[in-house]
Order: sequence, then structure tokens, then C-alpha cells
Amino acid sequence: MRTIVAGQVPRSNGRRRPTLRSVDQAWEAELRLPTPLVELRDPLFGRCRVLLKRDDLIHPDVPGNKWRKLKYLVRDARDRGAGTLLTFGGAHSNHVRAVAALGERLGLRTVGVIRGEEQPTNPGLRRAEERGMTLHYLDRATYRRKTEPDVLAALRDRFGGAYVVPEGGTTPFAFPGLAELVHELDRPYDAVVCAVGTGGTLAGIAAALPAGRRALGISVLRGARSLDAEVTALHRSALRRSLDNWTIDHRFHCGGFARRDAALDEFLARFADRHGWTPDPVYVGKALFGLSVLAGAGAFDGETVVALVSGPGTG
Ligand SMILES: Cc1ncc(COP(=O)(O)O)c(C=O)c1O
Repeated sequence: MRTIVAGQVPRSNGRRRPTLRSVDQAWEAELRLPTPLVELRDPLFGRCRVLLKRDDLIHPDVPGNKWRKLKYLVRDARDRGAGTLLTFGGAHSNHVRAVAALGERLGLRTVGVIRGEEQPTNPGLRRAEERGMTLHYLDRATYRRKTEPDVLAALRDRFGGAYVVPEGGTTPFAFPGLAELVHELDRPYDAVVCAVGTGGTLAGIAAALPAGRRALGISVLRGARSLDAEVTALHRSALRRSLDNWTIDHRFHCGGFARRDAALDEFLARFADRHGWTPDPVYVGKALFGLSVLAGAGAFDGETVVALVSGPGTG
């Protein structure tokens, strides 16, 4: 749907073309914000009161932490006159798809640099292409060096000057976006729990929490101890200081990134039975599973925890 609102500029053929600002406003009017904060009644969480922050409902194409992380980044790209967003990800990256959708809606060309050899396109990448994204495959060795000057220069030669968005979209621009999430929390709470991939979402939430509240990240990666240092580095670069109101629990990866084990499967099946939908097993499922184990052991007795649904589930 193309909606034209205020600020149109006339074209010589008599048709009117939306300005960037009007496209923005039309797009933002489609977003479901603020997202609902709904109580989850479930004995799986012991004596902890859980409020689900349903960021998965923001927009089907740019759900959850994608919008929170990219909102101010795309504004910066346009303020700097960028015509192209270039980003990176694996073949199943939600982030790559979200950048394609945003680019299409906001009138920016998009390039998705995909890890690995070209393979038959999966539905996610097909969707990105349908939204106008140019896909470019990099073998794994080169992909690992994607931020080095020679690799970036080769990409620049091929696709022209682009605004480069890092894999996962974690940049200091995530901070104002995630602060908006925290400011939407209009009921009393003690802690926020979220899934951790790169740490950007956790870092942004921790940075915006009022005094006395804490953030707990559940890492979805096996043994990714470097995440703690990465979150601290994000705080130092965005805030010029470190924070002590957050921790990462590394025990609930369930076998590693995108892997699952019997305990996670059992939790998700019970959750689906009770609530009629299944959180995604890669991120939100592990965060809720971790929270249920910790809450069941009494870690949040008598407390209210906001659990972030940072991406869509099924059902
Ligand atoms: C649905 C979902 N939740 C959580 C995360 C983890 O966020 P972050 O990389 O900011 O730690 C991701 C990855 O971007 C994601 O797709």
C-alpha cells in the first residue's frame, strides 16, 4: 500500500510524489506502537509475575528488535544522503529481510551480503529479493573478514558508495530505539529479560532502565563469553561509561545457535499448549525457557519481570 500524506511535491507529469518525510510518516503509521504489555499467567514461571512485551507485533516485515535497532539508523543514513543500505547476514537472517523491507518502504536501494556460496534461495531471501534487495554471496573465509578495508573496498567498487549496516544491525543507533521500548513500560517491574545474539538489544535496554531495575540477557550461543565484553564496549562507545545493571546467563543455549534440546522442546510444547502460540526456538523460546528455569528455582520470587518477545513465533 502506498499512502501519500502531507508534504507532497509536484512532478512534471502532474502526479504527486511523496517526500521522504511523508513516506516515513505513512510507514510509521502502520507500526503497532506502543506494543502491548500483557500478563502471562503460567505456573511454569513459579512465583514470578511475567509481563510479555509483545514487540513481535510491531510490523510483520520489521518486527521486534529489528525496528528498535534500525529506526534511528535508517534516519541517519538518509540524513547523510545515502541512497543504498548494504548489510550482512546468514542465509536465514531476519535482519537482512528487515533491511530489505525498510529499504523498499523508505526508498533506499538495498544490498544483502550473504555468508556462504550461492544456494537455491530460501523463502526469506526470496522475500528480500522481491523487496528489491540485491543479494551478493561471499565465501565464508572472505565473509569473516567483511569489515576489513579490502573487502569493504571491493564491495564499494561493485555496489557504489553505500551506508554499511553491520550484521545484526547492532550500532549505537540501537540505543534511542530501545530506549523507546523501555519508556513504553507503563506498569511497575523489577527486571527485563531478553534473548542475546550480538548483545545490542540487551545493551540498549540496560542503558535506558530507570534506577533500581535490572536487565538479564539469555545468550542463545554456546560459550559466547565475549558477549559480556561486547555489551560493555557498546556502553562505553555510546554512553562513555559502563553499567552494572545487567548480566548475561550463558546456560540456556540448548546446544548452540539455532540448536535445540529435549528440555527446550518440552518447554515450547507446554507453552504452546497453554497459550496457543510457540515462541521462536532460536531466540525468544530460549529466553523464556531460561526465565522459567530461573523463576522455578526462586530467582524472581515476588518480582515482576518483563520478558521481551523480540521476534515472531508461530501459531
Ligand atoms: C528475534 C530476535 N531476538 C533477539 C535477537 C538478539 O538480538 P541482539 O543481536 O541484539 O542480541 C535477534 C537477533 O537479532 C532476533 O532476531
